Amino acid sequence: MTRRLPGPSLERLAAAHELDVWPHELPPSQEELLARARSANGLLTMLSDRIDAALIDACLKLRAVVNYAVGSDNIDLAAAAARGIQVGVTPDVLTDATADLTWALLLAAARRLPEGAEAVRAGAWRTWEPAGFLGLELRGATLGLIGLGRIGRAVAERAPGFGMTVIHTSRSGGVTLSELLARSDVISLHCPLTPQTRHLIDARALAAMKPTAILVNTARGAIVDQPALVAALNDGGIAAAALDVTDPEPPPPEDPILRAPNLLLLPHVGSATRTARARMAQIAEENLLAALAGRTMPSAASGA
Ligand code: GLV
Ligand code: GLV
Repeated sequence: MTRRLPGPSLERLAAAHELDVWPHELPPSQEELLARARSANGLLTMLSDRIDAALIDACLKLRAVVNYAVGSDNIDLAAAAARGIQVGVTPDVLTDATADLTWALLLAAARRLPEGAEAVRAGAWRTWEPAGFLGLELRGATLGLIGLGRIGRAVAERAPGFGMTVIHTSRSGGVTLSELLARSDVISLHCPLTPQTRHLIDARALAAMKPTAILVNTARGAIVDQPALVAALNDGGIAAAALDVTDPEPPPPEDPILRAPNLLLLPHVGSATRTARARMAQIAEENLLAALAGRTMPSAASGA
């Protein structure tokens, strides 16, 4: 286990197997990870661990990798499959938490919460301003979803309450990406990071959005070409972005994303509710117990 998990302890796993838990708050380096993983039959990993072909090949006893996440883009699924190693994730139980955070970001950007809160703290709230902090009215606005899996659908389900019209583009249907980019007032990303979606939102896609558009990303940072987004925010190409994910994570202190205007940036907390994180631990435990007993994991990574 590359980190201690919140919620109930993994008692069933501990009863049946020996647990080696990385005790520190910061993740192991690749060398430390390799040194500890070499003798492991199973790994419980975080999305910040890189489980690449070199690591998989060096871990001769490895039979199972379970990511404490719904995504599995940090794991080389082909290398694992080639070795017959099962890969699992913790889906479903974080869907509502992530959809809620998507709406939190959407609302915060639409109503310019960071700017307003900052102005109050800075002592700049002088009076009630008729034209102060004007934002986007959600009723009647169009929300464009890129990806319509579990989380995308949960985001869409919440839209009628705000009176938004939802359009989507996904592998299985919806409108074209160019139509979505042109029509949406808010664009929210809900696809996995794959070779096909890497930098899907590039300079051209950003230029195709309305100058009043808001981009929300609770999926993976690398779906967006981040320098292109910084440029669009600086030039007023789009109105605002609200991100829970960046590329890389965390951004180094000199990264221009940290100084971009009209940007709300959170430290990858989509699944960070007490309920979701505790249930993710249970699913991770069930996956590991199954695979180490020679059974198929109940929640396998798709594409694994
Ligand atoms: C979070 O990003 C996850 O994949 O669970
Ligand atoms: C706002 O607070 C209003 O009364 O219009």
